[in-house]
Amino acid sequence: MKTALVTGASRGIGRAIALRLARDGFRVAVNYAEDGTAAEEVVRLIEKDGGSAFAVRADLGRPSHVLVERLRAETAVLDVLVNNAGIGTSQPIAEETPAAYDRLFDVNVKGLFFLTQQLLPLIPDGGRIVNITSGVTRIAFPEGIAYAMTKGAVQVFTLALAKELGPRGITVNNVAPGIIDTDTNASWLRGNPDGEAYAASRHALNRVGHVDEIANAVAFVASPEASFITGSTIDATGGGNL
Ligand SMILES: NC(=O)c1ccc[n+]([C@@H]2O[C@H](COP(=O)([O-])OP(=O)(O)OC[C@H]3O[C@@H](n4cnc5c(N)ncnc54)[C@H](OP(=O)(O)O)[C@@H]3O)[C@@H](O)[C@H]2O)c1
Repeated sequence: MKTALVTGASRGIGRAIALRLARDGFRVAVNYAEDGTAAEEVVRLIEKDGGSAFAVRADLGRPSHVLVERLRAETAVLDVLVNNAGIGTSQPIAEETPAAYDRLFDVNVKGLFFLTQQLLPLIPDGGRIVNITSGVTRIAFPEGIAYAMTKGAVQVFTLALAKELGPRGITVNNVAPGIIDTDTNASWLRGNPDGEAYAASRHALNRVGHVDEIANAVAFVASPEASFITGSTIDATGGGNL
C-alpha cells in the first residue's frame, strides 16, 4: 500500500485531501497541530471506509523531528507528500507585527521547507510533492501582504525543487485554491450578511469553493495520470480575480 502524508489534515482542505487520498488507496498520515479529536475523527472515517491511516501531532512552526521519526517508524517509503498546513492570519502592512510575521513564515515557509528536506530520503523515484499555495500569488493582495508573500515563497520553492527532483521522476507542483469554505474563512463568510456574496463575486464561477474541489485537484497531481506535470501551479480558484 502506498503512503501519503497530508500536513494540517485534521480540518478544512487538508481533511478533504486525506479522505480523498485514502479513497484512492493510500495509507494516510494525518498531521495536525492542536485538534487531536478532529484528527482522530479523520482516521476513524478512513478506517470505517476500509482504508488505513494514523494521526501524528506536530506543530510545523516549531523545529522538531517528531513527525519525521514517526513516519520513519511507520513506513520505509513516502510516496506522496502534501504540504497543506498553513495559517492565514495576516494584516495590511501598517498593522503587521514582527511576531505575527515570524509565525506566518515559520509555519507556511520554514516548516514546509525543512519538513520536505527531512522527508526527501523517504520519497521514492516517481514520488509526488504537492504544495498548497493560494490564488493570492497572482494578484495584488495588500489585505494580507505577509500571507501572500509566504505563498509566493512556496511557489518559488516548488519551481526549484521540481528541477532538482525531475531526473528521478518525482514531480513537485502547487495547487492554488481560491476562497474555500473552511474554518479560516468562517467568521467573515458568515459573520456578515454580504460575506458569502462578496467572496463569490471574486470568482468567475460566482460561488465559494468547496474543500472537495481542492482535494480533487491534489488527487490528480498526486496520481500517475499527472506524470508529465511538474514545477506547475494548478489554479483552483474558480477563476478568481480574472
Ligand atoms: N481556505 C481558503 O480559502 C484557502 C485559500 C487559499 C489557500 N489556502 C491554504 O490551504 C491550506 C489549508 O487551509 P484551510 O482553510 O483548510 O485551513 P483550516 O481550515 O484553518 O485548517 C488548518 C489545518 O492546518 C493545521 N495546522 C495549522 N497550523 C499548523 C501547524 N503549525 N502545524 C501543523 N498543522 C497546522 C490545523 O490543525 P489543528 O486544527 O490541529 O491545529 C488544520 O488541520 C493552507 O495552507 C491555506 O493557506 C486556503
